[in-house]
Amino acid sequence: MFSNFANVWTIVALARDLKPGKPLSLRIAGERVVFFRDASGKAAALIDRCPHRGVALSLGRVDKGEIECPFHGWRFDGDGCNRHVPWNPDAKRENLGAVALPVREMEGLLWLYTGFSPDREPQPSETFTLPGLAVCAQSVVWNVHWTRAMENMLDMPHLPFVHRKTIGKDARRLIGGRMDVAWEDRPYGGRISAAIDGVARPGALEYRFPNVMELFIDPPGKLLRLMVACIPEDDRTSRLLLLTMRSFARSPLLDPVFRLLNRRIAREDQAIVESSLPGEVPPSGEEASVRTDAPTLAFRRIYRKRLLGSVAERPRAPLLDAPTD
Ligand code: FES
Ligand SMILES: [Fe+2]
Repeated sequence: MFSNFANVWTIVALARDLKPGKPLSLRIAGERVVFFRDASGKAAALIDRCPHRGVALSLGRVDKGEIECPFHGWRFDGDGCNRHVPWNPDAKRENLGAVALPVREMEGLLWLYTGFSPDREPQPSETFTLPGLAVCAQSVVWNVHWTRAMENMLDMPHLPFVHRKTIGKDARRLIGGRMDVAWEDRPYGGRISAAIDGVARPGALEYRFPNVMELFIDPPGKLLRLMVACIPEDDRTSRLLLLTMRSFARSPLLDPVFRLLNRRIAREDQAIVESSLPGEVPPSGEEASVRTDAPTLAFRRIYRKRLLGSVAERPRAPLLDAPTD
C-alpha cells in the first residue's frame, strides 16, 4: 500500500474542512481514504473500502461518530472497529473491522500517515505556530506524477518564463545575467535561495519532506507565505493543496482574492508541468541538468533514497465469519 509514498506524514486538508457528520473521501498514493469525525469529534481515517464487499464507505453516512457502509449497513468507529452487522447478531464483529490509519490534527491542518506505525509526529512549519494568521486553502488537480509538481515548486529559474506577468515579472529584465541558487540541507528538508549577478533575490523557499514547499514573500513588516502540498493521488494524478497564510487583510471575505492569485500562478505552471516526459522524475543522469538545477536534483536524491520503493505493510487481513467454500 501507498507504494513509493509509504510511511510518511502528509498534510491532506485544513482540519476545519473536516465537518462533523460528513465523510471526506480523498485519494492518496493509490489508496482511497475516508476521513470523518468520531463520537468525540476527533478526526479518524479508514481505508475507504468496506471489508465486506469492498464498496466505498464514504458513500455511506456518518451517524453518532460511526461511519455506516451504504451497502449492507455495517458500522465502523474511528478505530475501524466493527460496531454493528445488521441481520447477524451472532457475527464475530471483532474480526470484521475496517483498516484504520493514523491521523492527526495539528496547527489547524489534517495529517495522514501513509502506513500503520508512525515513529514520529508530523512536523508542521513554524509559520503555523505564529499567532493571528489568516489561513485559506484550496485544491487543484494536475495530471502529473507528484514528483514533477514538487520539483516545479522548488525551481527558481522558471519564474520569469512561466510566470512572466505575475511572480516572475520583475526578474525578466535580468534574463541574461548569472543566477546562483543555493540549497542548504535542513533537518526538515532544505532551504533554497537565489541571487542574480550577486544580488540576492527576494522570496526564499523551503522544502519540507516529503511533499511541501513554503515560499516566504513577506512584505515589509508583514507576513505572507504561500505553501503547496503536492499530494500524490496515483501515478498520473496529483492534488495540490494551495495554502496562503497572511498577517494582514485577515478578513475571511478577502480569502477569494488570495485564492485567485494562488490559482492563477498554479494555472500558469500546470500545462507545462503536465507535459513532462517521463511522468515521474527519472534518475538524474537521464536528463540534462545545469548548475541552477541544484534544488531539484537535491529533491530527486531525497525521493530516490527515502520514498522510491517504499511500501506500507497491511495489518493482517480481516477474518471470515461465515462458512467458506
Ligand atoms: S459492502 Fe459494506 S456492508 Fe456490505
Ligand atoms: Fe511555477
